[in-house]
Amino acid sequence: MTTFHASILPVLIIGGTGKTGRRLAERLTATGIPVRIGSRNAAPAFDWENPQSWAIALEGVSAAYITYYPDLAVPGAAEAVGALARLAVRKGVKRLVLLSGRGEPEAQRAEEALQASGADWTIIRASWFAQNFSESFFLAPILAGELALPVDGVREPFIHADDIADVAAAALTDNRHVGQLYEVTGPRLLTFAEATSEIAKATGRDIRFQTIPHEAFMQGLVADGVPADIAGLIDELFTQVLDGRNEYLSDGVQRALGRAPRDFADFVGETAATGVWEPVR
Ligand SMILES: NC(=O)c1ccc[n+]([C@@H]2O[C@H](COP(=O)([O-])OP(=O)(O)OC[C@H]3O[C@@H](n4cnc5c(N)ncnc54)[C@H](OP(=O)(O)O)[C@@H]3O)[C@@H](O)[C@H]2O)c1
Repeated sequence: MTTFHASILPVLIIGGTGKTGRRLAERLTATGIPVRIGSRNAAPAFDWENPQSWAIALEGVSAAYITYYPDLAVPGAAEAVGALARLAVRKGVKRLVLLSGRGEPEAQRAEEALQASGADWTIIRASWFAQNFSESFFLAPILAGELALPVDGVREPFIHADDIADVAAAALTDNRHVGQLYEVTGPRLLTFAEATSEIAKATGRDIRFQTIPHEAFMQGLVADGVPADIAGLIDELFTQVLDGRNEYLSDGVQRALGRAPRDFADFVGETAATGVWEPVR
């Protein structure tokens, strides 16, 4: 195995408290690799909205894992990722791993910006995360007993965030992953109704899935406090990415790690056991 230089310099994990970044931080720390969390609440702080914070966060790190927030589909995301990558390369931080999304033209522009930056790059192009149901925007509806989305029978191969973190950890520590684009998905296509039903069965709760019009979906987001522009963006993602274009399995986890990805059932079983899907009475 060609290992990345055994460095005592930390790896910068942008979004290091998020769904994949937190898991990556645990993995690197467990193997003795120091990490620097990139977040608005870390010290030094990293904020995508404040480019001056980027140079300080990149100071003295060996490599970086880049997750953009809230989504690579946001206007200006590709430019920000490109600018950050070029700055990193100028500062001698050449090993960069980007978390990207499948079927999103804007995310692909961010990938191209990374590839053109001169970095030793790896791209992890992921399907929807299973953890959206337990650590993100689907959790509240699951707890409320009804998930209502503007999607019908489209199927998605939800990926376990642990698999993304495993691929990212490998990409940051093994030279064989330089220049690789890994399209990573779970091993099974599921409709959102089927995914909801698996969670309902595992928890013994009555949780229904309902298809609703886009307009009602956006109104619901705004009523929940999501700013109107972000609500529009989320709705656009549902329209664009869930039009059937992503209804296929990819072998990125197998190619990167030499093993199959975790199944949605693994995620459901272990997450149900934590009690996170039990409404507080
Ligand atoms: N969720 C999916 O299904 C999915 C699928 C494919 C690709 N992706 C991509 O994955 C990326 C991350 O999405 P996610 O949903 O998984 O989010 P996430 O990583 O769970 O996001 C939260 C993290 O972002 C940090 N953060 C928030 N605002 C920030 C800012 N302005 N500057 C710096 N850090 C900030 C948070 O820390 P602080 O709050 O402390 O700043 C936290 O560490 C997106 O680019 C998305 O396109 C997501």
